[in-house]
Amino acid sequence: MTRTQVLSSSIAQARKWGGVALLLGVGLGHGPAGWAQSLAPAQAPVQNWSFKGPLGHFDLAAVQRGYAVFAGVCASCHGLTQVHFSDLAGMGLTSEQIAALAEAWQVPNGLDAEGRLKHRKAQPDDALPEPYPNAQAARAANRGAVPPDLSRITQVYPGGPDRVFALLTGYGAPTSHQSGQGSAAGEGLVGGAHPAGVAGGEGGFANPYAIGHRTAMPPPLRDGAVVFADGTQATAEQEARDVTAFLAWVSNPHADSKRRLGVGVALYLCFLATLLVILKRRIWSHVRK
Ligand code: HEC
Repeated sequence: MTRTQVLSSSIAQARKWGGVALLLGVGLGHGPAGWAQSLAPAQAPVQNWSFKGPLGHFDLAAVQRGYAVFAGVCASCHGLTQVHFSDLAGMGLTSEQIAALAEAWQVPNGLDAEGRLKHRKAQPDDALPEPYPNAQAARAANRGAVPPDLSRITQVYPGGPDRVFALLTGYGAPTSHQSGQGSAAGEGLVGGAHPAGVAGGEGGFANPYAIGHRTAMPPPLRDGAVVFADGTQATAEQEARDVTAFLAWVSNPHADSKRRLGVGVALYLCFLATLLVILKRRIWSHVRK
């Protein structure tokens, strides 16, 4: 076998076993393997994001509102550890505003004499802190699931921003074995309350956009979960839309300047091509056809 053959056969193997693992996983967790097909995440409806396409741009007001949702709601369970406070200046904030914003967060700062973790106010060059000291603590507080870091979620989550939005707004009615719990736990959680007290069924919460149509994340958003500084009404859908825009921006903060550069380069090349055509005609104008 050549190297490419080896590679493609191992990819084929990986695909095959990946598929089997998925079937088994879904099958064992939620019923007969025959359900696997119907339990694949639903296709998320396509949203009209301002940042979509080669000429798109981020709506920084929405991104700032999304930060408020992240800080007020998601940050109690999810980290954003690839982001430093000073990076948030790209949302259109001044360095004073960044310093004030960082001060609202606590970051770990060594141990005290008894070995307990000490904290201090965050500074602009700190990364956004993780909500849990370690994976065990995260798991214990979230019915066995670790809330993923959201720094790159819109890039790595299959379905991208459309699916993040669909997931946040797509909680269905709780199913029989956990009826009532979904909404009760959801109520308790909103506004950034800590999830430690949530008792959950092993199946989690019904959501057609999650793998196996179940997620360990309780519905995080409700109307009025945060107050937007710009006066925009904080409906659950608006919050979901804005936090998704924020997460998309965070995962690709330089997209706008790259797009601008791309458009500039394309225009320049058009101009250069026109110039070259004119020049070529000039140079060869004395030659008879
Ligand atoms: C109470 C804790 C909690 C809060 C608050 C919370 N999440 Fe989650 N989130 C989780 C857990 C736990 C998971 C892992 C779910 C799983 O693996 O079943 C998760 C998973 C996710 C995922 C990945 C879903 C997947 O299928 O892997 C996204 C995206 C997400 N959360 C976004 C958010 C956003 C945005 C917010 C704020 C609006 C938020 N979460 C608030 C606990 C939380």
